[in-house]
Amino acid sequence: MTTQTGPGTGTRAQPTATITEGPRGVPLLGNLPAFGKNPLAFFEQLRARGDMVRWRFGRGPALFIADPDTIGELLTEVERTFDQPDLGIAFRTLLGNGVVVAKGADWRRRRSLVQPSVRPKQVRSYAATMSECAVALADRWTDGQRVDVKKEMAALTQLIAVRTIFGVDTAADAEAIGRAMDIAQKEIGAEFSGIGALLPDWVPTPGRARVKRATAVIDAEVSRVVARHRAGDTDRPDLLSRLLAARDETGAPLSDREIRDETVTLYIGGHETTSSTLVWAWYLLSRHPRVRAALTEELDRVLADHEPGHDDYASLPYAQAVVKETLRLYPTIWLITGIAKEGATLGGTPVPAGTRVWSSQWATHRDPRWYGDAEAFRPERWLTDEDGEPAERIPEYAWFPFGGGPRVCLGTRFALVEAVLVLAVLARRHHLDVAADEIRPVPSLTLQPDREVRATVRTRT
Ligand code: HEM
Repeated sequence: MTTQTGPGTGTRAQPTATITEGPRGVPLLGNLPAFGKNPLAFFEQLRARGDMVRWRFGRGPALFIADPDTIGELLTEVERTFDQPDLGIAFRTLLGNGVVVAKGADWRRRRSLVQPSVRPKQVRSYAATMSECAVALADRWTDGQRVDVKKEMAALTQLIAVRTIFGVDTAADAEAIGRAMDIAQKEIGAEFSGIGALLPDWVPTPGRARVKRATAVIDAEVSRVVARHRAGDTDRPDLLSRLLAARDETGAPLSDREIRDETVTLYIGGHETTSSTLVWAWYLLSRHPRVRAALTEELDRVLADHEPGHDDYASLPYAQAVVKETLRLYPTIWLITGIAKEGATLGGTPVPAGTRVWSSQWATHRDPRWYGDAEAFRPERWLTDEDGEPAERIPEYAWFPFGGGPRVCLGTRFALVEAVLVLAVLARRHHLDVAADEIRPVPSLTLQPDREVRATVRTRT
């Protein structure tokens, strides 16, 4: 038994290129009020109207696409016939011109320099740190202890990120850099969800001033760590060492400014996304005792009495399927958009330049055309039998939590290995009984639970 490896393993869906009209909207604002009130419900409503739906984001023309083929086309065409939207001044202040922000030739150069540091071979060397940090947490949890799952997962993934990216190994260093990142991440989330996202770049808001201050603290911390790395041993199992060793095709290394931008980008891109995925996984496992039992059966059988490490990853198909199914139901990045350039088409239909095209993981991942019992948490759908036959034939791009095409998430392998190892270490030793009945997702920068997620630790005997 193995898991399907991800987008690209299923059948392709039939393209449909008829544009349907969306809900009417209001003068000037168009559908903005309905979108702003509940974007997830709004996208589901559009999906019910068709696979390509015209709507109005304020006065600007917008197109929502729901079918996997067209989503694949949009993702693959980014950089060629679709532009990535500008992420805004708050992001640019914090991430500089890091790979998430950069465009065109600069983006290509940066991506090719960063990519080798997150290849599977390198992720293998970070995996020991991932397991080690999770084991320390499993050792601390005691039977009957009440925990705040969001806080626990945020602290754990932060420690993993700080250690694997910046290679810091003292508690004081990890805390200093973690604290600076925390503040910046909070401020950028507030700026993204608040009114700041709609204001022109030149408007000085208190939120933007806070992002600037937090960025100055990060700059100081990162330059201290980089200087120490440069002065010492660079052959260490951390991302920063790999970036310091990287050379472009002319033999030039990344500048200090580029190193700073890329390390901060990797941290911001990977921390909250992975942490939230783990919170949703615990929530789902707690509500589905049958799945939890199947997961612990696999962990007991495969791991017996050893703590999981990278070599066990491939032998844990059910744990992998739990993570994939969590990312299906609660995709922490819940929308991807592109802006049509001159000559853009989708499904053979011309898309006028300037049209903003929206796709939503939330809406497509819950489409009953691609998933049997789409609202159910059923990791088994991702398993394959001995002949490699998938339990469910899922079309390419019906699952795209990491995006796709040339801009596909650089941390896909890193995130999957981290989520599986953390779950494996912790679930082998403890169950988490989540107290709340139903937790709703709030779509901010990432898909967040709408309240604290409190749980009781049940240590397995
Ligand atoms: C569950 C965890 C994660 C999710 C759901 C996620 C999701 C995404 C998505 C949807 C994109 C945009 C892809 C596109 O536009 O097609 C992206 C880009 C990116 N992600 Fe992740 N990510 C995760 C973890 C990570 C981690 C751990 C790292 C770093 C170690 C990371 C680094 C990046 C970077 C650098 C980009 C920008 C790539 C580019 O523009 O060329 N991500 N991620």
